[in-house]
Amino acid sequence: MEKIVVNGGTPLRGSVEISGMKNAALPIIYASILVQDKCVIENLPNVSDVSNSLDLLRAMGASIRSVGRNAVEIDCTDIRQGSAPYDLARKMRASYYLFGAELGRFHTAHAPLPGGCDFGVRPIDQHIKGFESLGAEVKIENGCIDINTPRGICGANIFFDVVSVGATINMMLAAALTPGLTTIDNPAKEPHIVDLANFLNTCGAQIRGAGTDMIKIRGVDHLHGCHYAIIPDMIEAGTYMIAAAATSGTVRINNVIPKHLESITAKLQEMGATVVEDDDFVIVSSAGSLCRTNIKTLPYPGFPTDMHPQMSVLLCAANGVSTVTEGVFETRFRYVDELRRMGASIKVNGRTAIIQGGGKLSPAPVRAVDLRAGVALVIAGLMTEGETEISDIQLIERGYDDIIGKLRNLGANIRKVYVSDAEELKKAN
Ligand code: EPZ
Repeated sequence: MEKIVVNGGTPLRGSVEISGMKNAALPIIYASILVQDKCVIENLPNVSDVSNSLDLLRAMGASIRSVGRNAVEIDCTDIRQGSAPYDLARKMRASYYLFGAELGRFHTAHAPLPGGCDFGVRPIDQHIKGFESLGAEVKIENGCIDINTPRGICGANIFFDVVSVGATINMMLAAALTPGLTTIDNPAKEPHIVDLANFLNTCGAQIRGAGTDMIKIRGVDHLHGCHYAIIPDMIEAGTYMIAAAATSGTVRINNVIPKHLESITAKLQEMGATVVEDDDFVIVSSAGSLCRTNIKTLPYPGFPTDMHPQMSVLLCAANGVSTVTEGVFETRFRYVDELRRMGASIKVNGRTAIIQGGGKLSPAPVRAVDLRAGVALVIAGLMTEGETEISDIQLIERGYDDIIGKLRNLGANIRKVYVSDAEELKKAN
């Protein structure tokens, strides 16, 4: 088993390059199913969700080849509908973009239900509502979804009862080649929704209003290949911003779109950190004394739910009592028990964590329970003197490109170690 070992207490200093956004790259990779031509996608992050998604498309018959650092050429002309391997699809949430992509290209879909981080119930009722509005019939059995259109498929108006990134993306994929006009009311407005629309429009789609309260899609007959570069990862950038503040360091974070970071910047400045913005970088520094604050996670442009665990760690170092309310998922507090092992004083009351800051954390062996919880523990280790050991780090590698190398370049004493099962057993007894 591999673990991350962090010897913390040293301020992070220097520059870090942000990679392409995982949650933009994934829908764009699955969107290539709609294109019977070659698409070159650049600035892909080197993370396991991306490599697993490329492997999944390869297994379905897509031809995919590397065409440079962080760039691939994908040709889905010969992809076999309904052939996604079950175990590969279950490794991540994003495989459910197969639903919309297969429906959009083949007017039928058969795919395994997805996996993904455990945040309580993660329903797909809005996805199904969207597909049915286009005339599809949806069935779930044997762990898979089956979508058919015996009466054909045509554009429709859909109002989402819940703001859902995944349902918005699946609707865009299903409607891009569907005859007629499709409108999506109450869509998600995240930057990666806009990035997907830009990719599809570069391929010849007619999608307007991405990033606003109403998306309009006029179906086209076919899409042609294109060259496209993924936007920078705002959550990776926010993670390094918080790590800089948490270690009382000074870090220049390159290759960002500052507008995407507005809510994170605002909260860090409210806490007393310094954030300087320029065209494509931000510089975050902290003198060490941070004020308490309250956070509520909301769909974009609100404070991102994917920054919730990282912010909770930072608030452990702030003076006073802070709260973090999870406004997107049913629950996202499994990281709290792991932080408590390091001495954090956090109570969870419903959807709100109440954090008593100001105390020092202590190093401990902890476990990544999901992607962002795992990276939050890395930040906790960075701000804590002594050796913190983090296991189940494959969850962190789903979404962070070269996190060890990037942090070591910032002066962190961090390494990946391999622990054999025998050693693990010996330690446990
Ligand atoms: C995407 O998940 C991201 N995953 C998540 O990032 C992110 O936290 C989330 O969007 C919110 O921004 C990927 O992009 C692969 P949702 P998704 O549908 O699409 C409810 C990370 O760390 N809902 O926007 O699954 C749902 O239960 C991951 O990178 C319904 O009720 O999120 C939740 O409460 C974690 N019915 C809320 O909407 C539905 O049909 C938002 O979920 C769909 C969703």
